[in-house]
Amino acid sequence: MAGGDILPSWAVKRVTEREQWGSRIGFIMAAVGSAVGLGNIWRFPYEAATNGGAAFLLANFVAVLLIGLPAILAEFTIGRRAQRNVVDAFGRGGRAWKAAGALAAVTAFWIVSYYSVVGGWVLRYLIESPTGAYFGEPAAHFESVAVGLDAALYAAAFLLITVGIVAMGIERGIELATKIMVPAIVVLMGGLAVFAATLPGSGAGYEYFLAPDFGYLADNLVTLIPAAVGEVLFTLSLGSGIMITYASYVEDAESLVADGGAIVVVNTLVGYLAGLIVFPLLFAQGVEPGEAGAGAIFVSIANAFQSLPAGELFGVVFYFVILIAALSSSISLLEIPTAYFVDNFDAGRPVVAGALGTGAFLLGVPTALDQATFEFFDSFASEVMLPTGLFLVTVFVGWVYGREAMDELGEGVREQFLPRAWLWYVRIVVFLAVAMTLVLSVTSFAGIELF
Ligand code: PHE
Repeated sequence: MAGGDILPSWAVKRVTEREQWGSRIGFIMAAVGSAVGLGNIWRFPYEAATNGGAAFLLANFVAVLLIGLPAILAEFTIGRRAQRNVVDAFGRGGRAWKAAGALAAVTAFWIVSYYSVVGGWVLRYLIESPTGAYFGEPAAHFESVAVGLDAALYAAAFLLITVGIVAMGIERGIELATKIMVPAIVVLMGGLAVFAATLPGSGAGYEYFLAPDFGYLADNLVTLIPAAVGEVLFTLSLGSGIMITYASYVEDAESLVADGGAIVVVNTLVGYLAGLIVFPLLFAQGVEPGEAGAGAIFVSIANAFQSLPAGELFGVVFYFVILIAALSSSISLLEIPTAYFVDNFDAGRPVVAGALGTGAFLLGVPTALDQATFEFFDSFASEVMLPTGLFLVTVFVGWVYGREAMDELGEGVREQFLPRAWLWYVRIVVFLAVAMTLVLSVTSFAGIELF
């Protein structure tokens, strides 16, 4: 389009140059890459362990179907409709709504600042695996590397890779990287699960993970439901504008329902696969999952490698999988604010990504130097920011976008009743579930006992 004479240059850039995914499968892979991450491999087994094992699995499965899928579709419709970053996408609902978009972008920036610290731990464990450096005293080793200057340096290295991929752009950076990473994650995790199955004593792990205790389920519904819903939001990357931004790079009117369904199914299966690795390994070591705590993958599991045949190799594969899973999520986090600046200012993507990466590093330094700060960052994000973000999404889709969201979902979908049913479902069921999660998690964050 030779519109340079009528339109100012920034407008031309908007109309002609906004990037798109190269293919539908590329979009799906990028979204799966964002969803599959530390949430599946580290948080999911850990949450399952503290919430009754298989009972949690069951509650989680129900929450994925009833809340996760319709909620991801809500974010998709906002993004694809707007073809803009999260701030401007919300901004279509009026000036005040821009603040909701800004909150999402800030949330993503906040999360990537400490997520990269965990990414740094993983990078370090990967590098240390060939020599078994953490074999001797796993707990002491973890304590010595998790906090301190080293932790900040490794976080910087992790962020550097993240920035590099985001700087390359949507199709040649994020899409290309996740098209390689996601299949690799699935194949390598499958291999690890098979290997874990061969360990003596692993059987108890399956029983713990797969046989629900219905008594526990009935007695603990009040804590189980918010934990299960919260895990769904975290693992599907909902509430921070990621699925909005990623869908904004989709132009074709294909069925979002089919794409969302595929993403949710793969993400859930990877979470279960992680459980099939982590629990047999823990039980084979005689470690009760509840005791393992948040450091499980760095302490109990690292300890398990020591006694395994070819433990060094096992360690390399294990931490490599976690590293690429974490990277494919951190690039999605950094992309959210990046998209905003690239859309709105005449700055190159590499400059924007580099500046934001530097900012995220600086914000994250305190979390690398102090464990309590780290925990504050994590719980503030998952208990306050993400549920608030998704709550705003449901209100926006339900009551501001309404019809438009319905039309957008209807594109490429044959069942004509579906969009309307979905909209009402979002307005009532998803809205109430997210509102309840928000209340329960904000009160738990503030230390208030409701029940
Ligand atoms: N979904 C990612 C994971 O499972 C984490 C994440 C949460 C990423 C929120 C972005 C936003 O690790």
